[in-house]
Amino acid sequence: MSEFVDFVRSLPKAELHLHIEGTLEPAMLMELAEKHRIELPYSTAADVERAYDFADLQSFLDLYYLGASVLIDEDDFYSLMFRYLKRCRDEGIVHTEMMFDPQTHTERGIGFPVFMSGFGRAMEDAKRDWGQSSSLVMCFLRHLPEESAFETLKAAEPFQGQIMSRGLDSSELGHPPEKFERVYAAASQQGYRLVAHAGEEGPPAYITDALDRLKVERIDHGVRCLEDAELVERLVKAKTPLTVCPLSNVRLCVFDSMVDHPIRHMLERGLNVTVSSDDPPYFGGYLLDNFEALHRELGLTREEARQLAVNSVRSSFLDEASRKPWLDQLSLLTP
Ligand code: HPA
Ligand code: ZN
Repeated sequence: MSEFVDFVRSLPKAELHLHIEGTLEPAMLMELAEKHRIELPYSTAADVERAYDFADLQSFLDLYYLGASVLIDEDDFYSLMFRYLKRCRDEGIVHTEMMFDPQTHTERGIGFPVFMSGFGRAMEDAKRDWGQSSSLVMCFLRHLPEESAFETLKAAEPFQGQIMSRGLDSSELGHPPEKFERVYAAASQQGYRLVAHAGEEGPPAYITDALDRLKVERIDHGVRCLEDAELVERLVKAKTPLTVCPLSNVRLCVFDSMVDHPIRHMLERGLNVTVSSDDPPYFGGYLLDNFEALHRELGLTREEARQLAVNSVRSSFLDEASRKPWLDQLSLLTP
């Protein structure tokens, strides 16, 4: 690995946009399909990898939901989560806020007690074994009706202590933020922190509406804000965090190639940008792979990487006391 990657590894970082179901590696997908005798349209892990050729968000989601269908018992959810948390330890991710999609599981008859106990046990083990800090973002699937989101909010009530925030993911176009205005208001009443995917494939107006109607504190992706100068001004002023996922954006054809990715421009413009990996095996890499690609293809500097790490810790939902040691450490580092 390059010196640049070693430097980024040494920076204490938070990963704020990561779908835990999207960390399912092809080998594990095949193993679990065999374990549960689930028929897939693929015979080998290499076949699955060959299918990672996406034209847009929807073509990825079709494969992502098929992948998630092999997650059945508590151990599956434990193994998935523990594997990713080990990766955090190895990449210098000192804190992670992981999204999960309950409706993907409840629609298949797998209830909250199954996945919440698998996730919870893995998070506790990682905390105990190496002090890994982590929290959960429960996402509503935006292609499903509002009613299903309300049912999910209700089903999550017994697990409220285990979940920090609420998010919104899945097919963006045609499912604007206002569809979830009432369920977000209810989630806010229950004390959850709020985030939402917006401005990945959807227009800048979805970002404005996520802020004004859903009252989110953070925007996932948000890269299309650049099409609206007034919105950029607003985001800069409010220091609204944008959790940008460069490899994901290229794989889902939001930008033609990494050379065209605007992240350095976003930083220069004063936007509060962070880097995350979204769904790493599907998009060709984990967090350090994203930094490596940004360095190699866009010339991301060490100082910019340090700034991105500072932004990630500041944009997390960690309290002041917990983030202070990481910010102190980052301020002492000379790029
Ligand atoms: N966008 C929307 N929904 C998702 C994504 C994403 O990048 N990953 C998993 N679900
Ligand atoms: Zn995402």
